Amino acid sequence: MSKVYLTTAIPYVNGAPHIGHAMDYIIADTYARYHKLRGDEVRFQAGTDEHGNKIFRKATENNLPIQEYVDGNAAKFRDFISQLDAEYTDYIRTTDADHMARCQEIWRRIKDHIYPATYGGWYCVGCESYVTQKEYDENGGVCPDHQKPYEHLEEENYYFRISDFKDEIRARIESDEMLILPEFRKKEILKMLEEAPDVSVSRPTSQLTWGIPVPDDPDQTMYVWIDALSNYITILGYPDQSIDEWWPAAAQFVGKDILRFHAIIWPAMLLALGLPLPKVICSHGFIMADGQKMSKSIGNVVDPIEVLEKHGTDAFRYYFLRHVDTFADGDFTWDKYESAYNTELANDYGNLVQRLATMIAKNGVSTSALEPAPLDETYCGLMDKFEFSKAFDYVWEKVQQINKRIDDEKPWMLAKAGETEKLQQVLTSLAQDLKDANLMLSPFLPGATKKVADVFDAETVTPPTTPLFPKA
Ligand code: MSP
Repeated sequence: MSKVYLTTAIPYVNGAPHIGHAMDYIIADTYARYHKLRGDEVRFQAGTDEHGNKIFRKATENNLPIQEYVDGNAAKFRDFISQLDAEYTDYIRTTDADHMARCQEIWRRIKDHIYPATYGGWYCVGCESYVTQKEYDENGGVCPDHQKPYEHLEEENYYFRISDFKDEIRARIESDEMLILPEFRKKEILKMLEEAPDVSVSRPTSQLTWGIPVPDDPDQTMYVWIDALSNYITILGYPDQSIDEWWPAAAQFVGKDILRFHAIIWPAMLLALGLPLPKVICSHGFIMADGQKMSKSIGNVVDPIEVLEKHGTDAFRYYFLRHVDTFADGDFTWDKYESAYNTELANDYGNLVQRLATMIAKNGVSTSALEPAPLDETYCGLMDKFEFSKAFDYVWEKVQQINKRIDDEKPWMLAKAGETEKLQQVLTSLAQDLKDANLMLSPFLPGATKKVADVFDAETVTPPTTPLFPKA
């Protein structure tokens, strides 16, 4: 038995959860449940990223005090994670006082690699942001939104010297000591690393107030990524408590867009702190709607709560864990969703359970003593490689094989012919296969597999009174 620490990206609370946010949680939860099946002890972090101007502006637009605004959205995320049946053990908000104090201590400890520098550029006061020279030229020196000339501003920032750690990070990535998944993204990261500049890690407090103050310099506020990335260890108590029991993380789950922060800035911070690097950083793709990026302006944003409420949590997990390749972009359309639900979940699996339980009950076969076989090697191989959609496909084939066996072996004919002994044997063996497949399905579909286990583990099998997945 080993200790396994898993983390998920912490979303910004500048709105309600959207469908893409679910990916980190359901993937990490599947991995967590798989490890629990193997007898490991799992710690699973989730939380929310609550600082920065982007969130502050949203609160202002909504006429809400900032704290009230972030509290409201953070609660929505927490509910969302629970609705997905993700069994997190630790939940962090970056506005937690503990986190903020620990983050300041982290800053102190990496200070040798931080230096002040002046940043100069064109600034729009209305937008509260810098524009590039290219934008400045294209707009003729005037902000099109605010009709005000850009001002040339210079501000003092602190910079984190990524260059101190580049060689070490490259070595760890190349040797897979810190495994970046999938492989093609590892290559992208190695390329980016070559050019990675030092990063600005603070803003003047006059420009950014909603954040963690830089220790010993009231004029500067920490850049949100330093604050956010630290969550993975502050939640374990770092630096007040020893984190050796859980750190390094067995796996950190993130979307492809934020892999570079996790594969470059984060390892640099850890090296500066003298801490080990995560064993795996696993990045998933994006969920599109009907082949297009979901966006409010296109009006194709799919509400995850609506999807969850349509056929329940297991159906949601089924679609996004099986029909979205773990490492690639995936697509959601209601048509595809309905078809996967009806023809696969309801037919292949729901009907199978109903059919088999009915035959077993009718013929008085006892299945309670049947122990599921140890987890299959191919399945474990795929799960260990984070190939969740492939592992799911593999188990689904097993489900289909059981259906095929029923059709081929026709237990009802054996009953008709009075071949009782053979009938008992066939039904027992089918129940055994179903128990084996059900166990492998349990990390993906925790709700339904629990019900199925209850049916076949009972002293007397009673078919479910309502179908597991009622047809829509
Ligand atoms: N706050 C940062 C993460 C800090 S982690 C120390 C952030 N937040 S986010 O809200 O923009 O994204 C949160 C997670 O959701 C990320 O893993 C991101 O990749 C993922 N997704 C956001 N949109 C997505 C899709 N459309 N599809 C799949 N995942 C998506 O980045």
